[in-house]
Amino acid sequence: MSHLAAPLTDMPPLTGVAGTDPYIELLKNVLTGAVYEESAWRREDGYHRDKFRPLKSLRQFFLKRWAKRGYLVVKAQHFDAKKRELGTDWPLFGYSMVGKRRLDQLEVAIRTIAAEQIPGNILEAGVWRGGASMFMKALLNHLGEGHRQLWLADSFEGLPKPRLAPDTKDKRHDLSECDFLKVSIETVSANFERFGLLDENVRFLKGWFCDSLPHANPGKLALLRLDGDLYESTMDVLKPLYQNVVPGGFVVVDDYLAWSGCREAIDEFRELHKIKAQMFNIDGTGVYWRVPQAQPSVAAA
Ligand SMILES: C[S@@+](CC[C@H](N)C(=O)[O-])C[C@H]1O[C@@H](n2cnc3c(N)ncnc32)[C@H](O)[C@@H]1O
Repeated sequence: MSHLAAPLTDMPPLTGVAGTDPYIELLKNVLTGAVYEESAWRREDGYHRDKFRPLKSLRQFFLKRWAKRGYLVVKAQHFDAKKRELGTDWPLFGYSMVGKRRLDQLEVAIRTIAAEQIPGNILEAGVWRGGASMFMKALLNHLGEGHRQLWLADSFEGLPKPRLAPDTKDKRHDLSECDFLKVSIETVSANFERFGLLDENVRFLKGWFCDSLPHANPGKLALLRLDGDLYESTMDVLKPLYQNVVPGGFVVVDDYLAWSGCREAIDEFRELHKIKAQMFNIDGTGVYWRVPQAQPSVAAA
């Protein structure tokens, strides 16, 4: 960790700010799939959260053939409520893998943005099935803040093959062949529609971050949520977009404490731009900080 990175402090308790509205609590449980124990079942297609390499075997060959015929082989597993709360398993169905606590943090952030009237739009880079973004959109609407644009940036075809030299941070994290992480723009759009959340203020930015974001124009941002896992997927968001986050705005990093490449990117960027804002630990995986009123200017690279 860089010498400039502020020590991590736990996120303040929700008391008095969030966590009490039954509609919002139900949304969290539905979006994370926690209302269905079967969402803990695991797809047997060679990938799951703790195993990054495809199984190159006869079994794999047959699983793929069955999948082509429309059969999905799943392994029944015990539902672990703690894992789902902390976002440390991948739900077979459900709309978000970030877990309840990271949705709690988004609730606090969006409520604060509304209460303090922090100007700007919201952008999530790395949306998968759209769940965390759907949560933010539902809450914005609920708070009468639906006029803010919500930008969804994703390849909509999974993670990139790490493009940086093989000795770099993302080397061990090649998930580019992981079908579970490939969710099309049509599916995400349909997910929003299913919840009555698709309107003209939901904007899609399709493409690899390094191609799409330098040319994107999402306006000023009250909240930037980074959820691209890799070093390069984190840097490729920060470089063009950090400067858009307004004072008082939130920068939320889904993977800081779980993915070393993501952590290196954040620490490097904060050190380079002398960002000293206090970072808060959400749940042992995600962190966030708020952009101070007077921060050194960060020119887009
Ligand atoms: C961990 S998932 C996001 C989880 C999501 N926020 C949720 O609520 O469950 C990571 C997503 O980032 C996308 N992604 C990662 N790196 C990317 C890049 N460099 N360019 C475009 N999309 C990327 C993947 O396609 C995937 O949808």
